[in-house]
Amino acid sequence: MKRSTLEFLCCPGCQAALSLSNEFGEKAVYRGELYCSHCERSFLIKNGVAHFIHPRELEGLNRQFARSYNWFSHVYALFTKVAFLPFGGERRARKEILNRLELNSGRILEVSIGSGENLPYLFESPGVGEVYGLDISAGQLARCNSFITKRGWPVELFLGTAEALPFKSDSFDSVLHIGGINFFSSKKKAIEEMIRVARPKSKIVIADESERLAKLLYRIPGFMHSNKGNEVDTTMPSQLVPETMEEIRVDGIWKAHGQYHGYCLEFRKPS
Ligand SMILES: C[S@@+](CC[C@H](N)C(=O)[O-])C[C@H]1O[C@@H](n2cnc3c(N)ncnc32)[C@H](O)[C@@H]1O
Repeated sequence: MKRSTLEFLCCPGCQAALSLSNEFGEKAVYRGELYCSHCERSFLIKNGVAHFIHPRELEGLNRQFARSYNWFSHVYALFTKVAFLPFGGERRARKEILNRLELNSGRILEVSIGSGENLPYLFESPGVGEVYGLDISAGQLARCNSFITKRGWPVELFLGTAEALPFKSDSFDSVLHIGGINFFSSKKKAIEEMIRVARPKSKIVIADESERLAKLLYRIPGFMHSNKGNEVDTTMPSQLVPETMEEIRVDGIWKAHGQYHGYCLEFRKPS
């Protein structure tokens, strides 16, 4: 983690500033501890990645998905390549969403970065600036970390939840999320957080599978194994976007056999 990143990090619980101690590393912090003097919590930095959650503290769907993505991370890159074949392949399926970002060499945050499968497409854009990625799964982040190290891309990673982002308000020039929100513990909090950390006038782009596909996934035995039969709201979350947002737009994406299998929800934070 770059030392300059500390300037826009905050406690995910109370949003107070954090102080760094016990650090190791010169230009970047490789190991260390972030401390919130307001709520007296501390967060470890391991291998340059700040850990803002402890998996044992997670509840509900977040607990389940953090665990399942830890093992799924081993095959996730291959899985997405195969899953996107019906929609014209991975490049096309991802660019359908990424082309909506307005990259202006500023800071971009990918909420739920996973193993970093959007990064090759982000880094081929001349407008890409500093990239920051957060995910709830340590397994996904470990894959992502080795991917960015191999490619030499300047990406900073954080272990945390979309519902409590460890960043100060108005920190990012673009916010992106693909593929997780349908099954977040709280879509509402996640959208509020993406809006909070985005700078005024910046664009927020959120995409996931369609409600029909999400319902099918939900019925796969084992997919929701710890949900104990509770219904999960798989509706597309456009109603959770506050009316104060500008240029709100929803499009069908990932079309195959005459049907859209995903949605892309985009809007701009007002100035
Ligand atoms: C289908 S993957 C998408 C990964 C990546 N965005 C992509 O386009 O390939 C969903 C990701 O959401 C993450 N995730 C699930 N719940 C989350 C939460 N509450 N907060 C942050 N990330 C979460 C999972 O760990 C997983 O990496």
